[in-house]
Parts: sequence; structure tokens; C-alpha cells
Amino acid sequence: MTLFNQRMNEYRELIEKELERALHFPETDYKVGQAMRYSTLGGGKRIRGALTLEFCRVFGGDVKKAVCVAAAIELIHAFSLVHDDLPCMDDDDFRRGKPSCHKEFGEATALLAGDALLATAFNTVSAAAFLPKPEGLKPQNVVSVISTLSNATTEMIKGQQKDMELEKSTKTVSEEELLAMYNRKTCALISGGCVCGALCADAPEKALHNARGYGFAMGLAFQITDDLLDLKTEKAGKKTLPLLIGEKKARELAGEYNDTSIKIAEKLPKGDFLKELALSLIERRI
Ligand code: IPE
Ligand code: IPE
Ligand code: MG
Ligand code: MG
Repeated sequence: MTLFNQRMNEYRELIEKELERALHFPETDYKVGQAMRYSTLGGGKRIRGALTLEFCRVFGGDVKKAVCVAAAIELIHAFSLVHDDLPCMDDDDFRRGKPSCHKEFGEATALLAGDALLATAFNTVSAAAFLPKPEGLKPQNVVSVISTLSNATTEMIKGQQKDMELEKSTKTVSEEELLAMYNRKTCALISGGCVCGALCADAPEKALHNARGYGFAMGLAFQITDDLLDLKTEKAGKKTLPLLIGEKKARELAGEYNDTSIKIAEKLPKGDFLKELALSLIERRI
């Protein structure tokens, strides 16, 4: 196994364990609790959480400090997917290889599960302030993380709104408009995860700037690649970059954004994993 795969597996294990802890509900009769577990546990690549852990490590922090935050970002992401699949949004019947949350539990429960996942995310982050050393985070870092994650979530939601508006619009959408929408719906949360990792390591402003830059460039490459994979199955009216500029050009553009993120990773003292992650995502090796 390569060093990259080994570390990715370690990160996944840490995140999975923390998610299991955050979603442990003794009252098994609550359908909403079951729906939260169904939509979060045992699925997903855990890219956002892994980025949080890695950015903490890269900037000299103890990965243990960032585990609550990594789980929180995955909870926010899970919430966004549950709502994204609802009939009033993308109306998708499947997610992560199984029926989507509303297909399994009904629409009202899926709506509530999404809401509760978001609340649980912030509860999980705040728990980090009460943990003993070395796991615990300084209260001021917890506040900075909450501020970053809440802003990223609002950005993601604004991006989702724009995505729906563009879908309904009969006008031709420009490349700039699409990229601005991607920056919000996908990159804000990915980049937020990177910044939070650096915050857990008490990193200086310049480091936060690099984390942000890596996240935004990698996020764009990631979303364009996702659109390329969905090209044949896209809903009528959906506006994506490959549909606008064609598959070849979209692939080139994803490559350019990926190169930008790799250049940032190369400037970092221990950026090898981040470089490998960006490459794996665009080639969809993980
Ligand atoms: C899916 O994200 C939604 C997009 C922003 C493209 P991921 O591809 O990271 O989803 P999981 O978590 O691995 O299922
Ligand atoms: C997923 O976006 C949700 C967010 C980015 C918040 P998409 O609708 O583009 O992705 P999939 O194809 O459903 O995963
Ligand atoms: Mg969507
Ligand atoms: Mg969708």
C-alpha cells in the first residue's frame, strides 16, 4: 500500500469513529436519528474531513486535535447531500450507492435529518473545547472554526440556490456565472475544511491563505470532474461547465485548476499528500 493510501485510510478511520460517537443515539426509536446515521455513516470518500486533518498536520499540529472538526465538516456535507437529493431540489433517488435519505425514510424525515446533522456538526466542534490535552482545542480556535464553518455553510447554501436558479433559467449562462456558483456550492466547504485544519494547528495568516487557495482551486477541479462524470445523466435544464464549453475544454480547465492547487501544495513543507490527493481526485482514483 502506498503511503498516501495508508494515510487516507488512517484519516478515514479516525473520522468514522468520531462520526459514530457524534451519532450515537441510545433512543433507537427516533426515526430521524436512524436517518442521520443512514446518511452519514459508512459511505463517502471523506475528502473534506481528510483535508482538515492533513492541513492540521502540514502546519505542525497534532492530527488528534482536528478530529472533531473533521467529523463536523463531514456532518455538514452529509446534511447538504440529504437536502440536495430532495424532490424539491435535484430529486435524486440514489446517493452513495443506496436509496437517498428521503426514499428510505420519507421527505419530512429527510428534511429534519438534514437540519439535525447541521446542528450536530456545531455540537461536535464545540465539544473540542472541553476535551483534555492533546485532543482539546483552545476556546479561541473553536470560535474561529465555528465562524469559518458557519460562513462556508451559508456560502454553500447560496451556491445551491444559484444552481437551482440557473437550472430554471432559459438564458445562456456564462462561464463566469457557473464558476461563481461552483465556488459557493462546492469550493466554500472544501476550502473551509482546509482552513479549519490550519486553525487547529494554530497556523499564521499566511498559512490560512494557502489553505484557502488550495481548497478553492482543488474544489473547482473537483466539481468540474464531478460534472464530467455526470455528463450523460444530467437532468434537463441543468447548467454545468462541460455542457457549456464541451467535454474537452472542461477537462483542460479542471487540469488547470488542479495544477494551481498542486503548486500551492508544492510550496508547503510537507505538501506531498495534498499533491497526491489533488491528482487522485481529478483522476478519480479514490
Ligand atoms: C459530492 O461530493 C457532491 C459534490 C460537491 C460534487 P463527494 O463526491 O465528496 O461525495 P461523497 O462524500 O464522497 O459521497
Ligand atoms: C451536491 O452537488 C451538493 C452540494 C455541492 C452542496 P451536485 O448536485 O452537483 O452533486 P451530486 O451529483 O448530487 O453529488
Ligand atoms: Mg445539486
Ligand atoms: Mg445533486
